[in-house]
Amino acid sequence: MQVIHTIAELRQALARYDSPAFVPTMGNLHDGHLALVRRARTLGDVSVVSIFVNRLQFLPHEDFDTYPRTLDADCARLAELGCDIVFAPAESELYPQPQTFKVQPPAALADLLEGHFRPGFFTGVCTVVMKLFQCVFAQAKGERHAVFGKKDYQQLMIIRQMVQQFALPITIHGGEIERAPDGLALSSRNGYLSPQERAEAPQLLLALRTLAAGVLAGEHNLAALEHHAMQTLAARGWQPDYLTVRRREDLQPPTEHDLQPGRLVALGAARLGRTRLIDNWEF
Ligand code: PAJ
Repeated sequence: MQVIHTIAELRQALARYDSPAFVPTMGNLHDGHLALVRRARTLGDVSVVSIFVNRLQFLPHEDFDTYPRTLDADCARLAELGCDIVFAPAESELYPQPQTFKVQPPAALADLLEGHFRPGFFTGVCTVVMKLFQCVFAQAKGERHAVFGKKDYQQLMIIRQMVQQFALPITIHGGEIERAPDGLALSSRNGYLSPQERAEAPQLLLALRTLAAGVLAGEHNLAALEHHAMQTLAARGWQPDYLTVRRREDLQPPTEHDLQPGRLVALGAARLGRTRLIDNWEF
């Protein structure tokens, strides 16, 4: 496995391959990331994982400075898995000048849910992903693949639409959410949780599944179900941002017609102590 820090060296290393399969990450890799890498290894003729904590997608009060940076441990796990190339640029390499050209997703996709509570978040994500795509795919001659997790459901949807609208010749693959045995979705931010908070954390998924079960049981008053879900978590000491049922394809509120199995997803974000967790459940 090659660990590469500059765009020039990455392009040089990729020159002898046709079909990269790429997994962008911010590092501190867990089994959720590794499942995406395993998927990538089945897709192209070379697997590439980027590790870059992208300042553009953090608000000033968020955890950019304290986000866990564990490059050596990450590389050890990736080498074990048979990953071919790790691209871990310094900030001065990826953003040698302030990144003032940006990729701005439409408000209809990016200003709801996560984007509502983290303004500018998806502009930061789209900008870095577009730039990483240029670094990895610019000279590919064959099929180009990129793998994203359903854990960040809205991110996956926005990247798919970005690729479509810009006619990027890249196939986007969605990986299922990897969970701990008690249901908690794996996340780099789970490491911030105290033992008590870690024991409480699966309640977020439970609230989402209860919400989904309510809809499937025929309760169509979504506002009431969502309010109840938020109240339940708040009563247990959480600070929920949203718990809501949406259409899978555009994350808009469902119409009566959409209220059937196979079309919907319950999404939630809530803070437990100083840790903000997100999760979702398709149903
Ligand atoms: P990061 O949070 O490191 O996640 C990298 C990829 O791993 C994302 O596609 C995310 O959805 C996926 N992932 C995280 N936890 C997962 C889990 N439990 N199961 C399955 N997949 C999981 O998402 C980002 O980084 C950044 O926004 C990035 C796309 C790299 C742009 O900076």
